[in-house]
Amino acid sequence: MNEIKKNTVLSGVQPSGNLHIGNYLGAIKNFVSMQSDYNCFFCIVDLHAITVKQDPKILKRNTLEVAASYIASGIDPKKSVVFNQSSVSAHSELAWIFNCVTRMGWLNRMTQFKDKAGKDKENASSGLFIYPNLMAADILVYKATHVPVGNDQKQHLELTRDIAQKFNRDFNCENFFPIPEPIIDKDISRIMSLKDGGQKMSKSDLSEYSRISLLDESDEIIKKIKKAKTADTVMPEKIEQILKLSEVNNLLNIYAGFSGIEKEKLIAQYKGQNFSNFKSDLSDILVEQMKPITAEIKKLMQDKGYLIEILLEGQNKANEVAQKTINDVYDIVGFLRNET
Ligand code: AMP
Ligand code: TRP
Repeated sequence: MNEIKKNTVLSGVQPSGNLHIGNYLGAIKNFVSMQSDYNCFFCIVDLHAITVKQDPKILKRNTLEVAASYIASGIDPKKSVVFNQSSVSAHSELAWIFNCVTRMGWLNRMTQFKDKAGKDKENASSGLFIYPNLMAADILVYKATHVPVGNDQKQHLELTRDIAQKFNRDFNCENFFPIPEPIIDKDISRIMSLKDGGQKMSKSDLSEYSRISLLDESDEIIKKIKKAKTADTVMPEKIEQILKLSEVNNLLNIYAGFSGIEKEKLIAQYKGQNFSNFKSDLSDILVEQMKPITAEIKKLMQDKGYLIEILLEGQNKANEVAQKTINDVYDIVGFLRNET
C-alpha cells in the first residue's frame, strides 16, 4: 500500500531566463531530494516574472526552459506536480484576499522590493510591491508545510507565515492555513557571483562571467572557473580565515554543494596550495555533474509538445487542490456563492 504523505512542499522559480548554479544548488537540487517524502508542487512563476518588464515571446520560451530544467535536474512529473502559475487562477484569487490581509507596514519592510525597485521607486510596478502576497498565495493555496528556497527568500517566507497566522486569527479558523517552514541550507542557499563575493549570483548580472548557467557547455564552465576571483594568498587552513575571503569561501561552497564532500575536508585537502589545482578539480566536478543536465535541457527544448503536455497535466492536478482551498476561503471571508 502507498504510504500517505502528510506534508506538502511548494516552491517556484521565475521564468526570467539565465537559470544558474545558484538556482540549482539553492533550490532545484533540494526539490529533487524532497520528491519521495512529500506531496510536491513545483511551479514556474510567470505571474511573478511580469512584475518587471518581459518580452512576451521570450517569456513563453523561458517558461518551457524552467520546465525543462526541472525535469533534466531530476524532477519526475509522475511524482511531482509541475505547472505554470498563471494556468491555475486560484493563485491570483487568493493573492487578492491576501492583499487585504497583509499590512502596508509589513510590505514596506521587504528588502527585495527595495533592491529590485532601486532608486526609482515611483516607477516600479505596484505588482512588484505586492509580489510577496502572491508568493504567500502560491504556498498556502496548496496548504504547503515546507518550502525549499534560497536565502534571499527567507524574509518572504516569514511574511507568508505572518499572513497565514493573521488570516487564521482574523477569520476565526484556527489551523486553516498551516504555518509553512522554510528549508534553507546554511552554505549553499546563497551562492555568490564568481566576480564579486559580496554580490549574489544573479540572472540579471550583466556579466556572463559572474555566473555558471545551466546551459553552459563544458569549455565555458572551465573558462569561467579559471577566471573566477580568488585571493592573493594560498588556501588558508582555518575556516575563520576563509570566511574573510568571500570569493574563496563561495567556490568552496560550490565545490561542497556539487561533490557532497564536507567543506572542512576540502580545506584540509587544499590548504597551503595556490588555487590552480583546486580550480581545476572544481571544474572537473562541475563539468561531470552539469554535462548530463545541460544536454537533457537542450534535448527537452527540442520537444516542446512533451513539455506542454507535462504542464497541462500538472495544471489539472494543481487546479483540483487549489480550487478546493479557494472555495473554502471564499466561504470563510463571507462571499456569497451561488449554490445550485
Ligand atoms: P529566482 O530565480 O529568483 O526565481 O529564484 C529561484 C530560486 O533560486 C529561489 O529559491 C531563490 O532563492 C534561489 N536562488 C536564486 N539565486 C540564488 C543564489 N545566488 N544562491 C542560492 N539560491 C538562489
Ligand atoms: N519569489 C521567488 C523568487 O524570486 C519565487 C517564488 C514565487 C517562490 N512563489 C514562490 C518560491 C513560492 C517559493 C515558493 O525566487
